[in-house]
Amino acid sequence: MSRIEAPRDEHTGTLTDRLLAVLPPEAVLTDPDVTASYAHDMASFSPAGAPAVVVLPRTVEQVQHVMRTATALRVPVVPQGARTGLSGGANATDGCVVLSLVKMDRILEINPVDRVAVVEPGVVNAVLSRAVGEHGLAYPPDPSSWETCTIGGNIGTASGGLCCVKYGVTAEYVLGLDVVLADGRLMSTGRRTAKGVAGYDLTRLFVGSEGTLGIVVRAVLALRPKPPEQLVLAAEFASVAAACDAVCRITEGGHVPSLLELMDRTTVQAVNAYARMGLPEDTAALLLAAFDTPDPAADLAAVAALCEAAGATQVVPAENAAESELLLQARRLSLTALEAARGTTMVDDVCVPRSRLDALLAGVERIAAEYDLTIGVCAHAGDGNTHPTVCFDPADPDETRRARESFDAIMALGLELGGTITGEHGVGILKKEWLARELGPVGLEMQRAVKGVFDPLGILNPGKLF
Ligand code: LAC
Ligand code: ZN
Repeated sequence: MSRIEAPRDEHTGTLTDRLLAVLPPEAVLTDPDVTASYAHDMASFSPAGAPAVVVLPRTVEQVQHVMRTATALRVPVVPQGARTGLSGGANATDGCVVLSLVKMDRILEINPVDRVAVVEPGVVNAVLSRAVGEHGLAYPPDPSSWETCTIGGNIGTASGGLCCVKYGVTAEYVLGLDVVLADGRLMSTGRRTAKGVAGYDLTRLFVGSEGTLGIVVRAVLALRPKPPEQLVLAAEFASVAAACDAVCRITEGGHVPSLLELMDRTTVQAVNAYARMGLPEDTAALLLAAFDTPDPAADLAAVAALCEAAGATQVVPAENAAESELLLQARRLSLTALEAARGTTMVDDVCVPRSRLDALLAGVERIAAEYDLTIGVCAHAGDGNTHPTVCFDPADPDETRRARESFDAIMALGLELGGTITGEHGVGILKKEWLARELGPVGLEMQRAVKGVFDPLGILNPGKLF
């Protein structure tokens, strides 16, 4: 199951000279103004250092050369995709090699019989979705940033998205990987078969490892038959609690929507202000439910009745696919719109058991009042995965301090309710101390031991996760 190559000896020279021995000049960036633009992802409160060099390899061999060089010189390597991450996981450290995989962006194969796609890590999520769509297939995981984020980044953070409530998250679609290890060896994990249980599941281990264990250079992804176009319903509620009650009724009733999302009033107002979407602002919570079943109108009617039973004040099904898409666009814009509201945001990603969604969101309202802050909430409600988004002015030190404290208070509440600190954005730098709290000392020790096996010199994305 693994192909192993012996590491080669390195010739001497500076880091850049050594890299240029195999990489072409246009793939090795050293201008500090340029390298600085690769310093961080989209997370606030996450320190970023100055990279020594940014490399943009196009081949597996070039990635291997980068890792051999880094190992020989003991230089840290920070792998990056499109830097749409929200936890600082792709942030540079001082003197590091930023290893950007965006130029490795080929779809190598789409196979409708095996129902797999084989891709390089720099393929953009939406590009893959459209390409497989032409074969009547779907790659479901769809983060809000799907138009820009890459499959490699999705694998690194184990991304979710809007349709995961029915179709599951990235981990469920990654069958096999080719990974360049810290010392430059190439390892293949997993399979391209429908089943396979040979050995430890190293594929799953790499999904969500945030670039700390190796460099994914190729992925075998599972595909699904393309479902019918989904139809969306928007339900308005006079309270967030009533919307949460509707979510419980929908899942308890055995319904499987292809999307079940919540936007609170703050979020709705922000989206309207940002993009004039004309969403109803006199509602405390807007719930979006969708079905991509053969008869979505019938399924939506059943869910509409449940929303009304939970106290919905208005239930409006979209008339067609175009109207449905507009509602999804509004939801996907939530974070950008909230960011525009006060200058910057800290985005929580707490996921709780669905039955505790109400308790979590009530707690977020309390925390917002206690810290005197605006906290907008958008949520993958059907997954219990929430994004309480603290809006603040980074120029105001006191507000900034309160933002950080409230961000932490929300994670503490999530853990108290039996949840996790991160459903889909990862730990990065932002939630390091919280990972330790969630895992406990024994769990943390075992995770560090695993890291040591793959990265004994500690050069892969140091300072992330723990
Ligand atoms: C979303 C991103 C923030 O759900 O995960 O829009
Ligand atoms: Zn999300």
